[in-house]
Amino acid sequence: MKELRVGLLGIGTVGGGTFTVLQRNQADISRRLGTHIHITLVADRNLALAKEVTGGQVTVTDDAFAVVNHPDIDVVVELIGGYTVAKELVLTAIANGKHVVTANKALLAVHGNEIFQAAANKGVIVAYEAAVAGGIPIIKALREGLSANKIEWVAGIINGTTNFILSEMRDKGLAFTEVLSEAQRLGYAEADPTFDVEGIDAAHKLTIMASIAFGIPLQFDQAYTEGITQLTTKDIQYAEELGYRVKLLGITKQSAAGVELRVHPTLIPEKRLIANVNGAMNAVLVKGDAVGPTLYYGAGAGAEPTASSVVADLIDIARAQATPFEQRVPYLGMPLDQQQPLPMLPISEISTAYYLRMRVLDKPGVLAEVTKILSDGEISIDAMMQKEPQEGEAEADIVILTHVTLEKTMDIAIKAIEGLAAIDGQVTKIRMEELGR
Ligand code: NDP
Ligand code: HSE
Repeated sequence: MKELRVGLLGIGTVGGGTFTVLQRNQADISRRLGTHIHITLVADRNLALAKEVTGGQVTVTDDAFAVVNHPDIDVVVELIGGYTVAKELVLTAIANGKHVVTANKALLAVHGNEIFQAAANKGVIVAYEAAVAGGIPIIKALREGLSANKIEWVAGIINGTTNFILSEMRDKGLAFTEVLSEAQRLGYAEADPTFDVEGIDAAHKLTIMASIAFGIPLQFDQAYTEGITQLTTKDIQYAEELGYRVKLLGITKQSAAGVELRVHPTLIPEKRLIANVNGAMNAVLVKGDAVGPTLYYGAGAGAEPTASSVVADLIDIARAQATPFEQRVPYLGMPLDQQQPLPMLPISEISTAYYLRMRVLDKPGVLAEVTKILSDGEISIDAMMQKEPQEGEAEADIVILTHVTLEKTMDIAIKAIEGLAAIDGQVTKIRMEELGR
């Protein structure tokens, strides 16, 4: 088998981890592979960092284009992030006939259709295990391990930063901003952490998984995205009292009506394994018609866990480089010409259960008014909890859990409830998922 000569773009958190893991495990990897993987060229605009991490063992440059245009590079590993320069670099590498490994879910979710088509035209591999759920081999599971199944749904905690923040807020009572800077220090957060906390990063990853699961083109623009910035510790506490944990979930489901693609805070019964996934760990539940629900768990971010996936992709490429294009595993689990553009459902058309919290005047008849609105909308109540007003306060919190309801029906009812004289402010709505079957 031919040696693999690798050009590494970006030697920050993941690039540094990739260099370290390849160096440390070189002997075992070579035994598994029967050949060597060599990082021969590293580009980073921070040359001092590149020299420090590589210890002077590899040629370093601050010109990433010198790597993608270099004739002696077989594979380009893109670990700089972003949509613009990264896209140009990846497309140039492909045009030059080089295979590509990337951890850049933003790039693939937004420009993946174009990138995979360009790669198919040149017959090169674009591998991206690290782009979804860090160190968990979820792409391999979806594309290969579960390929006998019709996938019904995928639901996952797929952003380490927000899961770390939610866990720390719950366990230590720390403030949101305090925890975010810790997540940044640990290397979990994106260059722009808004991507993490507003659910955009999770939507990028979900877009990729939905494409593989349902054989559809990548459609990030169809994803509904709601982050954790509006979540209060009060709702996290009330949810716990009712036997639920709040997690930022990415959910994609296929039904006769179409495909759901949504990221939002979600109440999950605490008895579910996924409800107990904490810190920067990720977990993805995949329901296949033959296998039933399956759960994949592991580190979703950080240098070496993510490097584990990058290096596994390099090993796959070393093995597959001599295989004819048609016999390789297709980029998104299905040849591009077999993908079907199924209808995508807007959030108003999804059905789920809901947690509603409202602040009400503590006087007779208010609850009856609220429940009448719900009953008029044929919204069935599953559980209810009233918190006594604090001393000196005239208002109480009421929390209602509903059975499964169409989102647009729920929104009409919420508007009516907010219109009641006895209701103060807005109703907090958090979606709930059973994730059982
Ligand atoms: P870092 O910011 O730690 O590393 C990126 C490196 O690339 C930095 O050293 C940066 O330099 C350098 N760089 C940026 N632009 C250029 C350029 N045009 N030419 C040369 N060098 C450049 O990012 P991460 O390692 O955290 O992330 C890399 C990719 O991996 C991203 O796509 C991210 O989404 C993805 N990812 C990250 C995970 C994580 O846990 N961190 C997990 C999974 C995926 P400078 O510092 O000067 O900007
Ligand atoms: N910022 C991402 C996260 C990195 O926190 O999950 C891993 O993709």
